Amino acid sequence: MKESLLKLLMCPKCKSDLTLSVTQKDKEIAEGDLFCDVCNIHYPIHKYIPRFVKRDEYVANFSMEWDLHRNTQLDSISGYGESERTFVEKTGFDLLMLKGKLILDAGCGSGRFMEIAAKYGAEVVGFDLSYAVDSAFANMGLNKNINIIQADIFDLPLKIESFDFIYSIGVLHHTPCTKDAFMRLPGLLKTNGEIAIWVYADEPFHVKVFNRVSGLYRFFTTKMPLRMLYRFCHIAVPLYYLYKAKGLGHIFRVMLPLSTHPDPQWRVLDTFDWYSPKYQWKHTYGEVADWFEEAKLQDIVKLSIPISMKGRR
Ligand SMILES: C[S@@+](CC[C@H](N)C(=O)[O-])C[C@H]1O[C@@H](n2cnc3c(N)ncnc32)[C@H](O)[C@@H]1O
Ligand SMILES: [Zn+2]
Repeated sequence: MKESLLKLLMCPKCKSDLTLSVTQKDKEIAEGDLFCDVCNIHYPIHKYIPRFVKRDEYVANFSMEWDLHRNTQLDSISGYGESERTFVEKTGFDLLMLKGKLILDAGCGSGRFMEIAAKYGAEVVGFDLSYAVDSAFANMGLNKNINIIQADIFDLPLKIESFDFIYSIGVLHHTPCTKDAFMRLPGLLKTNGEIAIWVYADEPFHVKVFNRVSGLYRFFTTKMPLRMLYRFCHIAVPLYYLYKAKGLGHIFRVMLPLSTHPDPQWRVLDTFDWYSPKYQWKHTYGEVADWFEEAKLQDIVKLSIPISMKGRR
């Protein structure tokens, strides 16, 4: 943890400032403690990361996913530039506006989008409930523009009205309630700050069909031991070629929906990402627009990748 992060943190229970004590420090604070003297609660800093949760709750699948695929989707490793394109498409943010701004990545995973924001000169704070934070730290934690926290979106240790931009890509629908999770975020924006989210779609019709068919499989896969499911997801590697077969391929795609990403590692990752999460809600543009309005956001823009939307405080 960087000492400069302290000014953004507060006790998630009573919102008081925290007192920092350091027991081990090298390039950053490696071990230490954040103490709330109102609640008499200690929040440990362990392996460079302030920890506001005791364990990874219902997201052990994501701890595993981002450990096994720590850098599969990092542009700096893959060379595809796909994370940068996805970031722009799903947030609608102008990358050249990010320089010098303070940005929150809500559910950072192993940090593929923090890497983009930091590359364009933003200072980024990323949090995640899972041990993906350790993968993100291994990937980029010592970058001077990146801060990582292990925390639950429903119990955030962040001060209100702190951020110029907030994004949350592929996260909110993996919580017990997508809307409630979203509602925790707009208050963290400064006035005129922008927020963008991307959540799973339940429209148009062919997506609905995909959701229903894969939902039948999910009934079983979400109950399987994670290691077994992960091994199972490797069938996405050869099935990709079957999917390409004329006529029959299309039927297989509908009957057994797996990732069709051209990179075999991404196919395994994406397939596990689809079939392992406990919570996986789907939404429509209309629903998400209602949440943005209820949060009193302005300049609401429906972005072209379903379902992504941005707005301004
Ligand atoms: C599909 S991953 C997306 C990660 C990253 N945004 C990306 O696109 O690479 C979803 C992430 O949401 C996180 N998550 C789920 N529930 C959460 C919660 N209550 N608080 C914080 N993070 C949560 C998971 O741990 C997981 O890393
Ligand atoms: Zn407190």
